Amino acid sequence: MRRPGGLASIFEEKMTVVGTLRQVVGRTLQSPACGCWMSALPVRFLGTSPRQIPEDASFHCASFSEADQPRVLITGGLGQLGVGLANFLRKRFGKDNVILSDIRKPPDHVFRSGPFIYSDILDYKNLREIVVNNRITWLLHYSALLSAVGEANVSLARAVNITGFHNVLDVAAEHNLRLFVPSTIGAFGPTSPRNPTPDLCVQRPRTIYGVSKVHAELMGEYYYYRYGLDFRCLRYPGIISADSQPGGGTTDYAVQIFHDAVKNGKFECSLKPSTRLPMMYIDDCLRATLEVMEAPAEALSLRTYNVTAMSFSPEELAQELLKHVPEFQITYNVDAVRQAIADSWPMNFDDSNARKDWGWKHDFDLPELVTTMLNSHGSDTRVAQAN
Ligand code: SER
Repeated sequence: MRRPGGLASIFEEKMTVVGTLRQVVGRTLQSPACGCWMSALPVRFLGTSPRQIPEDASFHCASFSEADQPRVLITGGLGQLGVGLANFLRKRFGKDNVILSDIRKPPDHVFRSGPFIYSDILDYKNLREIVVNNRITWLLHYSALLSAVGEANVSLARAVNITGFHNVLDVAAEHNLRLFVPSTIGAFGPTSPRNPTPDLCVQRPRTIYGVSKVHAELMGEYYYYRYGLDFRCLRYPGIISADSQPGGGTTDYAVQIFHDAVKNGKFECSLKPSTRLPMMYIDDCLRATLEVMEAPAEALSLRTYNVTAMSFSPEELAQELLKHVPEFQITYNVDAVRQAIADSWPMNFDDSNARKDWGWKHDFDLPELVTTMLNSHGSDTRVAQAN
């Protein structure tokens, strides 16, 4: 009988990993002339760790019907998208198959809505332990500092967005996970074509956020070709949601404007009136994420896809809002950092490859977005009056 954590099992684990990688690498690369496979592996695959999967690993499984579903871990779960994504995936895969994680304490309603655990992506062993103990098969990695806040703290953004991502990448490759990482319109820069921006073009972003996302795109794709990692990535536009606030992004104005319009009837915008950026309502974003994760491997001609739903400027959004909130007033107090960032980003996103390869189709255009957001903010009376 194998002793968990014993030398034999450690050796066995290493050999399994090496064996699997050998097959994968063998598919993509010629054997090195020296025949030394170990030198072809990422450094951390050579590390040892006690085997942590219990002999009877079924105790985490809530019910038999949920047993064949993916076991999902979401990092950065208390950001703008994590809670909504967890709820969305739980409807599909069962509550106990989707684990939300963060380094912060969750609010009561989040803690009660399904499994929540502490996970620090800067701590490789912590991450690996979580993946092993919970038999994770899908990792959706949402920990990141956004564009404006990243410029205010470059070293933290570098640590979280780049070093943390390396941990995620290695754990995913080591445990054969399907890995989703959101990228962004921020992965492009002033030398990219901006109207429209295709999937493949010059990417020279001028923010640490953008640089870290290009890094993630390239590393994920590299691991796919080199080690067979099932890496999938969508470049999100600005995401607009009612239940949760973004933190420190350049597109945040398009979320805050609804809150302020309903509460105060006015909004002060940090971007110039004509600043056009690609955007998407959160329901479309969550569905796109699930769809690309479920797409058959042979349908994917790329590992990283642009996705979008609409494109608008603050003045166009304000015009649409005025149809429902006639007293609404918008003023402009331009933030130089955010404006410079927005001026270097795509105005329109070309997502034709996503539409062609795996059938991406958005549901929400600007009018539906505005109606839905106003309704979510409890302004049904105003919307009803305007209609
Ligand atoms: N919403 C992000 C930001 O503004 C862009 O993806 O930073």
